[in-house]
Amino acid sequence: MSTVSSLFSLMHAGYVLAREGVISALPSDPLPPPARFMKKMAGTIRRRQATERKQSERLSIALNRLGPSWVKLGQFLATRPDVVGSEIARDLELLQDRMEPFPRDAAISQIEESLGRKIDDIFTEFSEPVAAASVAQVHRARRRSDGVDVAVKVIRPGVRSRFHHDLDTFYTAARLQEKYIPASRRLRPVAVADTLAQSAKIEMDLRLEAAAFSEMGENTADDPGFRVPHVDWELSGRDCLTMDWVDGVKMNNIDGIRAAGHDMVRLSQNLIQSFLRHTLRDGFFHADMHPGNLFVAPNGDIVAVDLGIAGRLGKKERRFLAEILYGFITRDYLRVAEVHFEAGYVPRHHDVASFAQAIRAIGEPIHGQSAETISMAKLLTLLFEVTELFDMETRPELLLLQKTMVVVEGVARTLDPHFNMWKTSEPVVGTWIRENLGPAGFISDAREGLHAGLSLMRQLPELSARTQKLSEEMAAMSENGLRLDDHTVERIGKAEARHSRWGHIALWVIAALGAIALFIR
Ligand SMILES: Nc1ncnc2c1ncn2[C@@H]1O[C@H](COP(=O)(O)OP(=O)(O)O)[C@@H](O)[C@H]1O
Ligand SMILES: [Mg+2]
Repeated sequence: MSTVSSLFSLMHAGYVLAREGVISALPSDPLPPPARFMKKMAGTIRRRQATERKQSERLSIALNRLGPSWVKLGQFLATRPDVVGSEIARDLELLQDRMEPFPRDAAISQIEESLGRKIDDIFTEFSEPVAAASVAQVHRARRRSDGVDVAVKVIRPGVRSRFHHDLDTFYTAARLQEKYIPASRRLRPVAVADTLAQSAKIEMDLRLEAAAFSEMGENTADDPGFRVPHVDWELSGRDCLTMDWVDGVKMNNIDGIRAAGHDMVRLSQNLIQSFLRHTLRDGFFHADMHPGNLFVAPNGDIVAVDLGIAGRLGKKERRFLAEILYGFITRDYLRVAEVHFEAGYVPRHHDVASFAQAIRAIGEPIHGQSAETISMAKLLTLLFEVTELFDMETRPELLLLQKTMVVVEGVARTLDPHFNMWKTSEPVVGTWIRENLGPAGFISDAREGLHAGLSLMRQLPELSARTQKLSEEMAAMSENGLRLDDHTVERIGKAEARHSRWGHIALWVIAALGAIALFIR
């Protein structure tokens, strides 16, 4: 029975997507004829206004119309270009999670129920909502006990039960895909739905967001220039989260920051270094660092809010990341390649040297650029594209990191257009490597230049085997230059075919859904 109702929900979704013009804006050429016909039909029910809008806007409108769970789904899929393709992911990234606020009275009932106390016993003042999104909204209040101003985040009434219902629908869609579209199995749609369910569950229980604030607060207690608001556990529960009110200018208000007299260059460095410290040192990073969630406090500190999405990296992933960044900095592509094998991310049957060659194809052009245009996020993006060619399994936590890095780097660049990623990240990445990898000192020597590093490494018996191999490779590469061998070229071809094939299928499914909805009506 629940499957039937899920199917109807899917058809309804297809209908809304068609009506807002999402489906008819998808490219036609990869579609098989029946789907192309259905897509045409979808065009006939499109609203007239929809044609004037950009695809990203149409998606945003359609998903908002479908409700909070679909907005969550859209935001989640924006982080998974491996599943929906990079074009749709980019459109979804622009999805605005802004909804009509719910009434102040409803928020008060939520709080009173969650805490079992009367609002007047807790707060002397409680504002109208200051911001509202699909899952929660925020009010400003004054705490009765000490007269301090706080922010109170309140869950949208009924959002959890609604999400549970919609989740059934998503699972049905995922199961249908796995059953009828064998090519989609590699992407494990049901597992994707599992991940969505898990992250939404976390976002819809504010005690967990409170715990994330508290953990990050402890991690960063002694760090300069970065903090998160302090949580008031006594006034927090599943449906409401009370924390210190942050006074300051938002990072999306560049003029405001400048007017307040802050040092933009220092802010951008501080932002990147804080983020890298959280990632490498703590293995726990804020995964929604858009400028609307970042404040600059009057004393120049960066204060982050909105910790509903956080990422974790285990020691192994952190080591992997540091070695990769370091390998690119020192142009040690073989090392970058080896790290992938050592971590077990790339199957053993691949050839390390060919892999290193592909990685060199990413690294060398970047070294030709001026330092100011080098982007760590871009580097990781390209790297993950290449690693896919060598059957590297998708690592969602690294993907989340790369996505976040794109955002963080973007913010740093708006603060300081001359921002230099390598120079800024070096103190954090270098320190972490010195303390965590290899004999101390060796790395800092290597940083002076590859040759100095190599000669030092030759003196260290335990490293000599690796060095020998490394220098041979380097010699071979510098002689032969960059030449993609047949094997690599063939792999690139295959992967591209695989990519576009999946793109076709995704389009096909969406078109079919819209069309089914049409006929049902
Ligand atoms: N501690 C705080 N101090 C001041 N303003 C806050 C605080 N927490 C949230 N806000 C405001 O409320 C908005 C929404 O809160 P946020 O936690 O980002 O929720 P959402 O998940 O809906 O984006 C923020 O963008 C910010 O303007
Ligand atoms: Mg936010």
